Amino acid sequence: MRIFKKILKALGALLLFVVALAAFLLWWTHPKRPVNGSFVREAGASTFKFTDIPRGRVLDGEEVDGYARKLLGEMTLQQKVLQMSGDSSIWDLIKLITVEKGKYNDYAITAGADKRLAIPPIAFSDGPRGVVMSHSTAFPVAMARGASWDRDLQRRFGDVVGKEIRAQGGTLWGGVCVNLLRHPSWGRAQETLGEDPYLLGELSVASVEAVQAHNVMGCAKHYALNSIEETRTKVDVRVDERTLREVYLPHFKRLAEANVASFMSAYNKVNGDYCGESRHLLREILKEEWGYPGFVMSDFFMGVYDGKKAALAGLDLEMPWTMAYGKTLVAAVEKGEVPLAVVDEAVLRLLRRKIEYATRPDPMAYPASLVRAPEHAALAREVAEKGTVLLKNEGGLLPLDEAALQSVAVLGRLADAPNLGDYGSSRVYPPDTVTVVEGLREALGTGRVVHESGADLAKARAAAKAASAVVVVVGFDQSDEGEYIPEKPNKEEWGGDRENLALKPADRELILAAAAENPRTIVVLIGASAITVEEWHEKVGAILTAFYPGEQGGAALARLLLGRVNPSGKLPFTVPKDASRLPPFDNTSLTVDYGYYHGYTLAEKKGWEPRYAFGHGLSYTTYAYSKLFLDAKEATADGVVHASVDVTNTGSRAGEEVVQLYVGFPSSKVDRPVKLLRGFERVPLAPGETKRVTIPVGVKDLAYYDPAAKAWLVERMEYPVYVGPSSRQADLLATSFKVPE
Ligand code: BGC
Repeated sequence: MRIFKKILKALGALLLFVVALAAFLLWWTHPKRPVNGSFVREAGASTFKFTDIPRGRVLDGEEVDGYARKLLGEMTLQQKVLQMSGDSSIWDLIKLITVEKGKYNDYAITAGADKRLAIPPIAFSDGPRGVVMSHSTAFPVAMARGASWDRDLQRRFGDVVGKEIRAQGGTLWGGVCVNLLRHPSWGRAQETLGEDPYLLGELSVASVEAVQAHNVMGCAKHYALNSIEETRTKVDVRVDERTLREVYLPHFKRLAEANVASFMSAYNKVNGDYCGESRHLLREILKEEWGYPGFVMSDFFMGVYDGKKAALAGLDLEMPWTMAYGKTLVAAVEKGEVPLAVVDEAVLRLLRRKIEYATRPDPMAYPASLVRAPEHAALAREVAEKGTVLLKNEGGLLPLDEAALQSVAVLGRLADAPNLGDYGSSRVYPPDTVTVVEGLREALGTGRVVHESGADLAKARAAAKAASAVVVVVGFDQSDEGEYIPEKPNKEEWGGDRENLALKPADRELILAAAAENPRTIVVLIGASAITVEEWHEKVGAILTAFYPGEQGGAALARLLLGRVNPSGKLPFTVPKDASRLPPFDNTSLTVDYGYYHGYTLAEKKGWEPRYAFGHGLSYTTYAYSKLFLDAKEATADGVVHASVDVTNTGSRAGEEVVQLYVGFPSSKVDRPVKLLRGFERVPLAPGETKRVTIPVGVKDLAYYDPAAKAWLVERMEYPVYVGPSSRQADLLATSFKVPE
């Protein structure tokens, strides 16, 4: 008995010891453990707190800076360094895996809360498909919004995002992904707005301004050259200075000029340095050259390795927890390896934004009922309608005549599956999604809509044969393309780069089978960006590309197919005939060179005819362009030229046309693209209506970057101006103006 008790006692003591040791080790290794004494000063020692700053009016820049400096003056070094890291800890990760069952970002991820000075944290919600937190409205992916070429739509989308974030306690939207689509294989192609820097800049600024109007900070990401997924945390992207400035950065610059609140550095390296540690990108270009006043955060978990290097390079905030900063940075400052001024500057940038956004008056109240408000679903449907592109419509097969339609066969495994895009950090979790089958059944009644997944090809054939029209829904889902997360237990959710530009064999077979049975076959493509169509496009009557069309996608597609709305989207990228007409895509090498040409600039330089040109998109009506003229034949290097054109709706349906303006450089002394997009305007037109559309062109936006002079140069020469419905040369009217010596 006695011996038993002794053993029990000993075991108890051992257990206690183990628990105590584990607790000690956790505390000792915790990145936020106080170094050299206490993190915080004695309670009550502060004379000024965040809550002492006046609210409800717009403080001017000087006032904001003054208050930020006052707070800084109250902080110990440790407190300052704590502002520079996210507040998450290993426990949040454990909670995510266990309690939250992997539903990432269910609530805001915070950074830089300071209880003693009452400094609120930044509260991060991811995007760009909407708001990742909780169960928010799932919009079509960003690429569909890119295909809308609609600034106003982007503004209204940003307005909803702002409201849904505020209604859930968020203060920052990590949803402004503007990495240029260099190649359609990129796994996260769906998160960006297209292949053209000008289009990316215009559309992203529109959504950012709207989000920020609700006092939600925007975050431009991933700065920069992040467009290969499977090596994203390791690859070194080599790029020359001219390509960097002219192709990969202009849209980031545009966002900086529009005062987006923050930037997120990319995982990859650029010319040898991780982006989060790149002095050239962060300090020299963004902060010094562009004079950007906001802060830069790292991408999550693997965005920063060398804390000293990152701080010196200008990375202000590491997310989502302390890894490279914390104790390491405190010690580096104490040893004189990182000047205190560097930490102070980072903290001031963070504090200024917090003060600015927390004290400005709100335009409205943000009750929880705003999340998934009915008008938000209606907007999600409108975005899907305006972001779907009609690629082909032979003999006016579309729209389907609702009254005459006896039955429609809807084929394909994706036709009745909620397919909102990848399962990475941009995943939005709406409670309901309208599939294409559901959308058509709602519109036509259940009896007229037959669905076959295609698993049994004979059944699909029979359904196609018996129907008055066939809609084949084919393409991709989260297992084919998306953010690459191999840590997920289920391989179907890994995403990664898309292996093939063409459809899968089963999809192609299904299309050909349907088309063989029924000439009235319509293909709806689902996927992030370009899908090649060579093997089958001539066999079908109509092709639409819907991207991942969001929670209301099925309703939108039904309305488009039935002509209740007229398609108006235009491709924000080039669809080549085959992959050899694209820049190389290498997602295994750890060093990759990015050249000057891609997309339409590459196709035009090489004289390659794409299958569908950048900017291409048909409508159920027709438009005619005439009377292109400029308000001046000559302009100065800092001037603005206005191009005007008459656009007429020559058909019998109302529609919206995206008028595009390109400028060429045939007399340039340096190698330049054939032409570049420099303006666009979306115009609604009633049948028979003509509108004069005027588009301004800033001459300074025609400059090229001269790396030797480290300057942008506007050449003194003749500039052709092209205006029309797409980038296809044959579609464009032309005129020109001159910048004289
Ligand atoms: C992604 C970012 C995202 C972050 C936080 C990263 O893996 O690259 O786009 O904002 O995670 O979720």
